[in-house]
Amino acid sequence: MVGLGGWGGEKSIEAVRATADVLDLVTWFDASPEVIEQRRDEMPVPPAGSWEEVLDDEAIEGVILVVPNHVHGPVAVEVAGRGKHIFVEKPLANTLAECDRIIQACEDAGVLLQVGHCLRRIPAVRKARQLMDEGRIGEIVMLEGHQSHRGGWTLKEGQWRWYNEKCPGGPLNLLGIHQIETMHYLVGPAVEINAMFAKKCLPCEIDEITQVIMRFKAGMLGYIGDTYVSPAKTETCIYGTDGYMEVDCLKSHIKLYDIDGKLTDIPCEKLDLIADEYREFAECIVTGKRPETGGPEGRAAVAVMEAAIESARTGKVSRIHG
Ligand SMILES: NC(=O)c1ccc[n+]([C@@H]2O[C@H](COP(=O)([O-])OP(=O)(O)OC[C@H]3O[C@@H](n4cnc5c(N)ncnc54)[C@H](O)[C@@H]3O)[C@@H](O)[C@H]2O)c1
Repeated sequence: MVGLGGWGGEKSIEAVRATADVLDLVTWFDASPEVIEQRRDEMPVPPAGSWEEVLDDEAIEGVILVVPNHVHGPVAVEVAGRGKHIFVEKPLANTLAECDRIIQACEDAGVLLQVGHCLRRIPAVRKARQLMDEGRIGEIVMLEGHQSHRGGWTLKEGQWRWYNEKCPGGPLNLLGIHQIETMHYLVGPAVEINAMFAKKCLPCEIDEITQVIMRFKAGMLGYIGDTYVSPAKTETCIYGTDGYMEVDCLKSHIKLYDIDGKLTDIPCEKLDLIADEYREFAECIVTGKRPETGGPEGRAAVAVMEAAIESARTGKVSRIHG
């Protein structure tokens, strides 16, 4: 496991512990000596002495990358080049060019690539997809996604999330990418993107408010709003001709309104999404199965993000090709 900062040192490590029956943690590493010292005592195995030691260790079959978004590309390409399978946190990379570099390196090396798009695994999202497919809300005409939290208030200069170059798209890159990928899961790819970004409260470089309007290949429209300054909310709404569903992703709960506006509450189970992803990673390594969110799915989400960044910059609609 590589990268034990905010997410890696908490959620990912919890998930590694929860999947010890299928994942045998060989070693771990972080570029920061302070992070290594901070985590050393709580980890079940000792850290690697250097990055080269990780790459050289033939006992390591797969590497879980929980490193900043702008280093996904260089690190993943190196890991693939040493013939090790890769689980990389979302987004696959900050640009399509970087996604293509990673995908090509994995193909050339014959290693598996899984991208940590965990939101579609939420039981309420899975259930919503099932209800949609059964026709419970008629024909789907519109989607709305919202994903925000107050993380921006704790940003400090020097951290990667502060800078446009390392975190282009700000909250869309950090949060909205989950909604993009979930909408792709629900209705297929978006093809036309119109976006506006804004800054209002924070001193950092990145914008802290992003809004994106999408046209999907299947004909419906969708909207995604994100802020990095307002209280936590993660919700996906699906509108059909015979009803609509509000999917609360944090509570794993669906509110389904039928054609007459009658509400049915559908509570769903909760799941350790990261452990679920790691179980699939282990299964894919052993069986050769392709992961549910691999290179193509990760790339498709980044294509929308990149198109939105372009649209916000130019004030024009961006089209996604291929
Ligand atoms: N799935 C989710 O919901 C979710 C949530 C939060 C973060 N993430 C993703 O997790 C990743 C890490 O985010 P974070 O919040 O933990 O960031 P962070 O900055 O808190 O931690 C990143 C860690 O990576 C280390 N690092 C940097 N470059 C490295 C390198 N080349 N080799 C080894 N270690 C290196 C840093 O020292 C740091 O400890 C990002 O891709 C982020 O998008 C996913």
